[in-house]
Amino acid sequence: MNIKTIGVEAFLNKYEHEARIDIAQSTIASLTMGEILELDGQGGDSFYERLNRKKMNYGWIEGSPEFKQEVANLYESVDPDNVLQMNGGTGANLNAIMAIVEPGCHVIAEYPTYQPLYDLPAALGAEVDHWLIHEEDGWRPRLDELKRLVRPDTKLICINNASNPLGTVIETDAMEEIVEIARSVDAWVLCDEVFFPLEEPESCTSIVDLYDRGVCTNSLSKDYSVPAARCGWTVSNKELADRMRVLRDYTMISCGVFNDALATHVLRNRDRVIERNLKIIRANREIVNEWMDAEPRASWIAPRGVSVSYMRLDIPQDDEGFCLDLLHDTGVLLVPGSRFDLPCGARLGYCAPEDDLREGLSILSSYMHEKFD
Ligand SMILES: Cc1ncc(COP(=O)(O)O)c(C=O)c1O
Repeated sequence: MNIKTIGVEAFLNKYEHEARIDIAQSTIASLTMGEILELDGQGGDSFYERLNRKKMNYGWIEGSPEFKQEVANLYESVDPDNVLQMNGGTGANLNAIMAIVEPGCHVIAEYPTYQPLYDLPAALGAEVDHWLIHEEDGWRPRLDELKRLVRPDTKLICINNASNPLGTVIETDAMEEIVEIARSVDAWVLCDEVFFPLEEPESCTSIVDLYDRGVCTNSLSKDYSVPAARCGWTVSNKELADRMRVLRDYTMISCGVFNDALATHVLRNRDRVIERNLKIIRANREIVNEWMDAEPRASWIAPRGVSVSYMRLDIPQDDEGFCLDLLHDTGVLLVPGSRFDLPCGARLGYCAPEDDLREGLSILSSYMHEKFD
């Protein structure tokens, strides 16, 4: 298989451990195990008590019934049987795309956004058309462009709600139009919802609550602050779930007993996690807004309830070279925009711990002015 390197992952794999101040990540400040155990107000006694009795075998292959029920509860009308546990959002996208895409089929993918959503179908032999989103529209997708791209043989439309790194949110009315376009040619719609907006969630609807041929992928890694669980899921109709069941035996078997218990515990206490994370989003966005107002070399379209963002940098150096110099000279980590095909800027993971964000931004300003003014 001829498959491209994922730009952002390759960059982070190589450089994230060199960072002194990491303001590059897309997760909302990760929870410690201690904080996770405290979520239920019992200090995790029951969590470890239950776990100590469990055999460390493969566990429930599709995810425990408790996990599947917790996930089903996130949607309006989902049968837990059609929920499949996956190795993170990564495994969810891999298995869903492999279950749908065949060599030569036509796929439309939102672009630029999270690279596997277009380069994985391409690696599997699909003909992929990019559905471009534009800065002058505030990065919102144009539905008339999707109508132009769709063909009678379109098999899959891949979208990211909200998008990494731009923070683009697709609200329910736009999503309904996407569904109508897909329905007109009987195409599947894969919606990666790992960044489902935490603010005004009622303005958005999961694809699986709108369309029978919709598949949503999600995980504990971003909105829920526990990427260590390496636990995600797909929700789809039975036909697609059955196809993914076959693939899962090749790609993963199960997520493991510990990860299932951890993920279930976090989902059970979801309200507390979301309350914490909303506070982080709002407070940190304000810090960045104030910084942007005073920083002529940076600008952004502030994201709504989403933990990732893209900032434009007005500097006379390419973004990759600049981010590497910044890291080596100051220890501050940003992801170059070019890693998302968005040159002249960087991904700012503004939901980092507040002290890191403040210090990282302050160093970034001083560094740009010393270097370029
Ligand atoms: C849009 C999107 N989907 C999926 C993933 C994969 O996340 P994970 O496998 O950690 O759940 C990422 C990771 O950055 C992402 O940005």
